Amino acid sequence: MAIHTVENTHVEMTQMVMPQYTNVVGTVFGGQIMSWLDICAAVSAQRHARTPVVTASIDSVHFIQPVKHGHIVILKSQVNAVFHTSMEVGVIVIAENPLTGERHKACRAYCTFVALDLAGHPTKLPELILSSAEDERRSREAHERRGIRLKHRKEEESSSLG
Ligand SMILES: CC(C)(COP(=O)(O)OP(=O)(O)OC[C@H]1O[C@@H](n2cnc3c(N)ncnc32)[C@H](O)[C@@H]1OP(=O)(O)O)[C@@H](O)C(=O)NCCC(=O)NCCS
Repeated sequence: MAIHTVENTHVEMTQMVMPQYTNVVGTVFGGQIMSWLDICAAVSAQRHARTPVVTASIDSVHFIQPVKHGHIVILKSQVNAVFHTSMEVGVIVIAENPLTGERHKACRAYCTFVALDLAGHPTKLPELILSSAEDERRSREAHERRGIRLKHRKEEESSSLG
């Protein structure tokens, strides 16, 4: 039986920064970080949904500090809040110097995933069980962000292609 706590959606993913992931100044491409971030968040979302999920949006992406070639990237994600068929997943990206163990925050973002049924239509998600004051805070903040996100979606939909 699935237990739908926040804790059960925790994912930690580790990558080593190989040369193919870097740009001309020897730091990781933003797009590469986005790809890892989307994968890590999708695993969190799927752990909650236990159905296929698709990314509806990724917002509040901030590349805080560069990540160097040879360093380690650690991504951590969790479901912050469940709405109806969609949920918000928070992701933090940490860079680690393998020689010193020193760590810094490299990036963070919020991803919205939609759960799909077998016909590919959005489907209702199970409720997220909030077990701590920290879970409550994250959920409350996620609901606030959702309001802004859906307002932007509406504006985007009503704007022209040009
Ligand atoms: C995401 C998608 C399934 C939504 O389908 P839709 O027909 O617009 O469905 P709805 O309008 O009923 O929205 C379904 C849910 O998604 C949410 N949603 C849709 N677009 C969103 C966006 N841009 N940002 C945040 N939430 C969004 C809605 O708020 C709704 O949430 P709720 O049920 O929790 O209230 C559809 O837009 C899609 O397939 N997009 C492409 C996804 C994709 O290819 N991703 C990249 C690869 S995984």
